[in-house]
Amino acid sequence: MADTTTSFAGPTGHSIPSPEYLASYLLIFLMGLTLASSSIVRTQLSNMMGKSSKEMQPIQNLSISEIKDGSEPELLNKYEIMNKFSQDTWQRKAYDAFAAKLSDKEKTFPCIYASKGWKDNDLIYMFLPSEDCTERTNVLAVARAILAYHPQSHKYGCNTSLVVLAPNSQTKKRAIEDYHRLFWGFCKSLRQLDPKPWPSHISEETASNRWCMCFDGKPAFMAVLTPAHEKRQTRYLPYFCFVWQPRWVFELLLTSDEKRAATLKNVRGLIDKYDHPLVHSPDIANFGDPNSSEAKEYFIWDENRPASAPWPTLLAP
Ligand SMILES: *[C@@H]1O[C@H](CO)[C@@H](O)[C@H](O)[C@H]1NC(C)=O
Ligand SMILES: *[C@@H]1O[C@H](CO)[C@@H](O)[C@H](O)[C@H]1NC(C)=O
Ligand SMILES: *[C@@H]1O[C@H](CO)[C@@H](O)[C@H](O)[C@H]1NC(C)=O
Repeated sequence: MADTTTSFAGPTGHSIPSPEYLASYLLIFLMGLTLASSSIVRTQLSNMMGKSSKEMQPIQNLSISEIKDGSEPELLNKYEIMNKFSQDTWQRKAYDAFAAKLSDKEKTFPCIYASKGWKDNDLIYMFLPSEDCTERTNVLAVARAILAYHPQSHKYGCNTSLVVLAPNSQTKKRAIEDYHRLFWGFCKSLRQLDPKPWPSHISEETASNRWCMCFDGKPAFMAVLTPAHEKRQTRYLPYFCFVWQPRWVFELLLTSDEKRAATLKNVRGLIDKYDHPLVHSPDIANFGDPNSSEAKEYFIWDENRPASAPWPTLLAP
């Protein structure tokens, strides 16, 4: 008998390959299959994501001096938007979708500050020229807008925020991961443009419970809504949107640990109702809570898994 492994004999034969041989053939076959398919998937993925992987790169050569180009950022309140933009413009559609969400009487939007701010006309809006907020012109536009907004912010009202709305991309439908990259790439670039040092009580480590986004020497909370969220309706808007909420808005109301705890409980309950059957992310916490990080609260995935910042710090490498 020459080679028991390459011949197969019927029930009466006696040269059936050993199970060990069969197993190793199967293993080699499966390994080959896995390698082949993973390289196909990789090639397809890199074709598909060619642009978005470039997009996520924060701009390296931003300089603070570029902010001062003499241009005036256009900051609008809700009445100015309704006067300026007819209903068929994307700006108006984006605003209308945002307003419908915040003013819905049947379904209370959980950010009670933003809802009250919308009602009282405390919210200020800006429109980006394109959806990719990591583009140089967009980062510079938001930097200029925040610098113009801050000195006026107290005048706008106690529940003010700066709402940034972007048009939908004409060429691509972005996945939720793309928006996550865009948002954090934007934050890292914005950090490079900050003309003032961060307050000393704020950490630069994104995983820290003392970290929060700052600009112009002032801390803020940020919330991101995207067209790619499906289950988590609190974070869905048909237009990419992020909100810059100055920290003093919360500090005005959350003046004791009791008030902070009660508000958090209330907000978490509202989120559970709004996003039902999805429950609130455990990362929704009060600033400074042990084991919390605001970097996990700004952008929240569609399901409950931690969405942290892609970098341990937003400072330049
Ligand atoms: C920044 O770098 C990019 C390429 O890396 C270049 O095209 C651009 O001109 C640079 N801009 C400034 C203001 O240096
Ligand atoms: C701001 O919003 C909160 C939450 O809705 C509300 O309790 C508070 O009274 C508002 N502040 C003002 C000045 O309206
Ligand atoms: C800390 O938070 C993470 C989620 O971000 C959670 O999985 C973990 O159990 C928490 N640890 C403690 C000690 O609370």
